[in-house]
Amino acid sequence: VRVAVVFGGRSGEHSVSCATAAGVLRAIDRERYDVVPVGITRDGTWVIAPDEPARLEGGRAEVPAESSQLLVPLGDRPGPLVVTEPGQVPHELGAVDVVLPLIHGPYGEDGTLQGLLEMAGTRYVGSGVLASAVGMDKHYMKIVLAGHGLPVGPYTVITPRAWRRDPAAAKDAVASLGFPVFVKPARAGSSLGVIKVDRAEDVEAAVLEAQQHDPKVIVEAAISGREIECAVLQGRGDAPPRTSAPGEIVLDAPESGFYDYETKYLDTAPLTMAIPADLPAEITDRVRDLAAQSFEALACEGLARVDFFYTDRGSVVVNEVNTMPGFTPYSMYPALWEAAGLNYPDLVDELIQLALE
Ligand code: DAL
Ligand code: MG
Repeated sequence: VRVAVVFGGRSGEHSVSCATAAGVLRAIDRERYDVVPVGITRDGTWVIAPDEPARLEGGRAEVPAESSQLLVPLGDRPGPLVVTEPGQVPHELGAVDVVLPLIHGPYGEDGTLQGLLEMAGTRYVGSGVLASAVGMDKHYMKIVLAGHGLPVGPYTVITPRAWRRDPAAAKDAVASLGFPVFVKPARAGSSLGVIKVDRAEDVEAAVLEAQQHDPKVIVEAAISGREIECAVLQGRGDAPPRTSAPGEIVLDAPESGFYDYETKYLDTAPLTMAIPADLPAEITDRVRDLAAQSFEALACEGLARVDFFYTDRGSVVVNEVNTMPGFTPYSMYPALWEAAGLNYPDLVDELIQLALE
């Protein structure tokens, strides 16, 4: 079986994707799978990347741009990948059986890459166009989750037009949530561009910062409670989604006051994950049930990590669904499955098999 491992990409989570790909390239069963590493550079060029995980690790890794270039897989046969070496006529790399799109953020996790693969008639791991797009957009994600009766926190959305026309009204809507709030780009991940705001005077600067990442901004009321995450894996055949025992993000007071990009990937002190989270049995059941329901509400496929708040008042609120969660061997998603008895190489295998089903 020929597998294209696609990683890097144009989003701010480029390096996270490289680290994810490094983990998968190390773990994938080379006897079963013929692996083609395909990198997308920060400027969007597709390249055949060196099959060298060590070059892709570290918080600031990049897809090396010197490799031979690929034309994106478009055509009437499943997955032809065409390579151009500098100064040479393009030649076909050959069809691949399945693509592993290990890209986080816009142009990868948001349905655009999935749409390209659909048009190419290529099978791929993970969610399709709609679930990916909805999972990327924190605004529509909440609408879909709430539309399925799932608990989401209070929020307001600031579109670029609303901000230009009446910033005072937008700020009033934010203030009515009560402080502190989290100001976030609507479509981004790994907490990029996210700022915790404690005072009305600081809203404008935070909105301008979030707009650097996405013109559409979402502002969420801060929920005081514990951060709980649950891994979901599509069921085989018609079986319902499988859920892991929940894990918890346990932080020693990070500087920014929350689980931000620096804490996630660049800090020397590793973040602490409690697996399984120490929760009352009925809360564990509730989290797993809501995770499976969220997966189905968005019509996810393959995998997703659903993030929650277990509030100080004892309720469980869905924070978000990540359709391509961080997937290094040290990330929460694989760690949750490891604890459930499914180790990292077997998890990669399972995801590929689900895509080939
Ligand atoms: N967006 C990052 C990769 C995550 O959800 O884990
Ligand atoms: Mg996310």
